[in-house]
Amino acid sequence: MLPALTSKPAEEIAPGVNWIGAFDPDLRSFDLILKTANGTTYNAYAVQGAEGVAIIDTVKEEFSGQFFDRLEQVTSYDAIRAVVLNHLELDHAGALPELMRRAPHAHIYVSQRGLKLLQATLKDELAHYHYTLTDDGDSLDLGGRVLQFVMTPYLHWPETMCSFLLPDRILFSCDVFGAHFCDPRLYNDLVGDFRFSFEYYFRHIMRPFKKWVLQAMDKIEPLAPVMIAPSHGPILRTRPMDYVKSYRLLSGSHLPNEVEGKEKSLLIFYLSAYGATADMARSVYEGASAIEGVRVSLYDLQGGEVEPFVDLIEGADGMMFGSPTINGDAVKPIWDLLASLIAIDTRGKVGAAFGSYGWSGEAVPMIEDRMRGLKMRVPEKGKRIKFHPTEQELEECRSYGQAIAELLSGKARPKVIDFAEL
Ligand code: FEO
Repeated sequence: MLPALTSKPAEEIAPGVNWIGAFDPDLRSFDLILKTANGTTYNAYAVQGAEGVAIIDTVKEEFSGQFFDRLEQVTSYDAIRAVVLNHLELDHAGALPELMRRAPHAHIYVSQRGLKLLQATLKDELAHYHYTLTDDGDSLDLGGRVLQFVMTPYLHWPETMCSFLLPDRILFSCDVFGAHFCDPRLYNDLVGDFRFSFEYYFRHIMRPFKKWVLQAMDKIEPLAPVMIAPSHGPILRTRPMDYVKSYRLLSGSHLPNEVEGKEKSLLIFYLSAYGATADMARSVYEGASAIEGVRVSLYDLQGGEVEPFVDLIEGADGMMFGSPTINGDAVKPIWDLLASLIAIDTRGKVGAAFGSYGWSGEAVPMIEDRMRGLKMRVPEKGKRIKFHPTEQELEECRSYGQAIAELLSGKARPKVIDFAEL
């Protein structure tokens, strides 16, 4: 029989190391971007050393009751010597203000980049507490047990870190290796099948930071943890290194990219109501394809799903979007694709937009604004054509595609800026 969620006692996951987190089985959407069909947990931990207790992370504020009940089952507030904050997003730091009121003598450990967030969380109360800013190699000796701090920036906030307990070799990884999965059996070898949640969590939380994930795995692999205790979902006590390997795999490409070496990849997406933008897209494609060293692909979004295109864009160097203007806007499938790019790193990729219009032609500048918002480079002014393009206008589209491809290939002609257009 499954243990009841709120009445489940603190769980000793290793001698003197207790899970004191909280269950949130009814959550169905996290941070507005993730679906959570199985709810989630906010895992926090209490580590007992000969010279006191360290509390590692807290929980979302509205679940403080569960957290303090479990904390009081395993220690007293007087015995808390340290509060370690691996990450200051409010699902982990929500109960911090109250914890510090109850244990004001406890010393806070937070990464250097976490200081501003700590100030924002505790406000004026911070002046009453002591804190230490941590960096790689710093540690906290609890007496017979040491917590080593491992900086893992951008997993998934700039300030995030992990804490590694020695000699037990338990990694408290906060969001890293987390999953939104709520199961009172707690351990990966006992809970239901959470593989979907683990990968889904990675794709929505860690995926934009793959470069940083790989750097973090370089630090974590040599530690060879025997248990990974994240702050969401199952505690990974069986084959923890499989999950480290999984992060490496998820940070790589699933299929070999056929566009290799010095060749650049340019993707052209379009939709067309009356065939005009489609004709423009084909001409842009012809122009771009004439440039050596650039592999160009053309996709009609009417025949595609968003998710696989996001995968393609992640590996591409440049992308162009063609949309007619309808009701003063770009069409919905274009926005669906552009909105989904939040899940990947698009910084520095080249972007361009084109489209046919009837009255005002807002779609192209709106797409350009969105691409700039995604930190992409938009080096050429978008190409807009009123109604159906003439042969001369199609030639202009070829030149436009050629210009973008030349820029990608590094053969771009010197640009003449028309100040009247600025
Ligand atoms: Fe689970 Fe980034 O908070």
